[in-house]
Amino acid sequence: MSKQWWKESVVYQIYPRSFNDSNGDGIGDIQGIISKLDYLTELGIDVVWLSPVYQSPNDDNGYDISDYEAIMSDFGTMADWDQLLEEMHTRGLKLVMDLVVNHSSDEHDWFIESRKSKENAYRDYYIWRPGQDGKPPTDWIASFGGSAWQYDEETDEYFLHMFSKKQPDLNWENEKVRKDVYEMMRFWLDKGVDGFRMDVINMISKKEILPTYEEFQAGYAKAEPYQFNLPGVHDYLREMNEEVLSKYDIMTVGECPKVTPSEAKKYTAEHRQELDMVFQFEHMGLDKYKGKSKWELKTLELRDLKENLSKWQKELENDGWNSLYWCNHDQPRIVSRFGDDGKYHRQSATMLATLLHMMKGTPYIYQGEEIGMTNCHFDSIDDYRDIETLNYYQEMVGEHGKTPNDIMPSIYAKSRDNARTPMQWNSSAEAGFTTGTPWIKVNPNYKKINVENALADENSIFHYYKKLIELRRQHEVMVYGSYTLLAEDHPAVFAYERELNGEKLLVLCNFYGEKTTFELNDCTPYEVLISNYPTELPNDAMVTLSPYEALVYKTTSH
Ligand code: NOJ
Repeated sequence: MSKQWWKESVVYQIYPRSFNDSNGDGIGDIQGIISKLDYLTELGIDVVWLSPVYQSPNDDNGYDISDYEAIMSDFGTMADWDQLLEEMHTRGLKLVMDLVVNHSSDEHDWFIESRKSKENAYRDYYIWRPGQDGKPPTDWIASFGGSAWQYDEETDEYFLHMFSKKQPDLNWENEKVRKDVYEMMRFWLDKGVDGFRMDVINMISKKEILPTYEEFQAGYAKAEPYQFNLPGVHDYLREMNEEVLSKYDIMTVGECPKVTPSEAKKYTAEHRQELDMVFQFEHMGLDKYKGKSKWELKTLELRDLKENLSKWQKELENDGWNSLYWCNHDQPRIVSRFGDDGKYHRQSATMLATLLHMMKGTPYIYQGEEIGMTNCHFDSIDDYRDIETLNYYQEMVGEHGKTPNDIMPSIYAKSRDNARTPMQWNSSAEAGFTTGTPWIKVNPNYKKINVENALADENSIFHYYKKLIELRRQHEVMVYGSYTLLAEDHPAVFAYERELNGEKLLVLCNFYGEKTTFELNDCTPYEVLISNYPTELPNDAMVTLSPYEALVYKTTSH
């Protein structure tokens, strides 16, 4: 396995709208980020993944882009962005930009042209099909609810949108689209960006399941059910790699819903020259019922988590590379989700951090995770902003006759807005995020959970994350070591071992709020690498773990 800087890095994700507002308009911005770069340096991360800052009408908070080479005015100007990159590079930080090219905004010039007429030069930049007896071309459902096809009166045809109707899907079959996308990527790479996080990149091919325009016209219109990871995705990525990615020393991570380890290997195996790593979602689906939507809540079973994460660790052990994450702008806060955001807030947040950061792969930290930010509970749906949440509420309450009381528990647990409340910097008004009115309410617990408190307290979640990051620099075994799951059937402890050239780490994580014990079988700890409780080496083979205790030992084998 080759050594790469991005395998040895820790990435920090910034959701700019909610990070830090410098001008009092209630919306985070680029100057706000610049003024917090020293904070990121203090934490010790290597790379920032910046969620979209491009021009956008904000139907989906910037994931609907109307100009890929312009900065959203809410966030600042291109000069601000240039300054951000320069100041990051000066501090030794790398910048990874979000690349959203499965779809654009319907306000992008390409789409404005495309919808004008069937003969327009940009018509084939998007996916247009005739309707079927007054119905949409296929029965595909969009990710944010409703049909994935929108009827457009202008030309009496439908266009495809796998997300909102303001996010029409680009037609990757069209070579001109691909060339324009590659050119846009070069624009940013030539400015010096250090990589891309590619939004739903495994959705870009549809040709295998969608009949052609001509087939629809001829009356043949039997589409297959919507699928991800179609073979064409690999063709396009290989082409993108050859034309663009391979020419720069960058990192790439593809967001890939529904990806399996064998598919992930195809995307990330070095010899295939596609991507460096992918974001998989299987572990994020363990607290919902199989085949059901994320809103159908189920308690996580530790056994399922062990099985799932270990499967990914093993399958990508020699071929490909894992990304490691608990949180991002689409996921609820991990301490509320798999930990305990009340009594064992610090313990469970640090235990979860240990469990993840000790695994093999590149760890990602989402803004606020490092101070243990929690889910929010707003009483009224009017305080929510996320299009997916609002569509779900409307569908359930407006169309299916549910009451708000039926629905709000799911929204509290899973709404994307849990991740999007403003970053909590201090205990002053609006958590120090803005001097104005924030675009979304601040979580009321900011007086207690905030950066200022975290920096001042040596025992804080922040300082624990900082230590985990430092350890990664000092111990190659954390990066490149092999992974072995231990005590698979232990009901409370997630235990595993990492090993590289004789250096061994034993990771023990008590996943629950009760004490438990763990028997050391064939190893002897000789040093505590890190722990979230004051601890010493055990006297015998039985280790007692406190509620949510995480312990990493250096060990020797018998
Ligand atoms: C995935 C992004 O992470 C999410 O926030 C967005 O809504 C969809 N892709 C559509 O771009």
